[in-house]
Amino acid sequence: MPKILPATGGDVVEIILADHRWFEEALRELRDVQSDRSAVLADLATVLIAHAEAEESKVYPQLRKKDAIDADEVEHSEHEHDEGNAALLELMEVEDTGSEDFSEKLHELSEALSHHLDEEERDVLNPARTDVSEEVRRQLGDAFAEERARLIDSGCGDIANVRKLVEAS
Ligand SMILES: [Fe+2]
Ligand SMILES: [Fe+2]
Repeated sequence: MPKILPATGGDVVEIILADHRWFEEALRELRDVQSDRSAVLADLATVLIAHAEAEESKVYPQLRKKDAIDADEVEHSEHEHDEGNAALLELMEVEDTGSEDFSEKLHELSEALSHHLDEEERDVLNPARTDVSEEVRRQLGDAFAEERARLIDSGCGDIANVRKLVEAS
């Protein structure tokens, strides 16, 4: 399993993309019956929640303020985060990581996440590349990385917290 990427500041587009690649790698590990699925899932839950929450609090509002994305885009992305969290929770609730149920719930999470990464990279990261300055991208990257690290330290991927987020959505 690739280790959770450490907090590094810098261009927010690059930092977000690095996490997206990591998510794809984690999903691949989860498909493998020979991997330590529980451990990989715990790491994925942690980074996924931290990543999405930090996007919502530190990245989307600033891109909205700079008119790079509109309110519908923000709402749509947040809705997709909610759907991803719901799929994540269902997977975490499966007791037997070797079961057909695990495989099915993993498929659902994989679909939800792939869909979101694709849309976010096209509809959010592209305007971040073209409509805001490098300096702003750097400030956003630093703020995102700091918030992401804070959330990881707080144990944001614990099932109780994931359930709380799903129930609040
Ligand atoms: Fe993202
Ligand atoms: Fe996202």
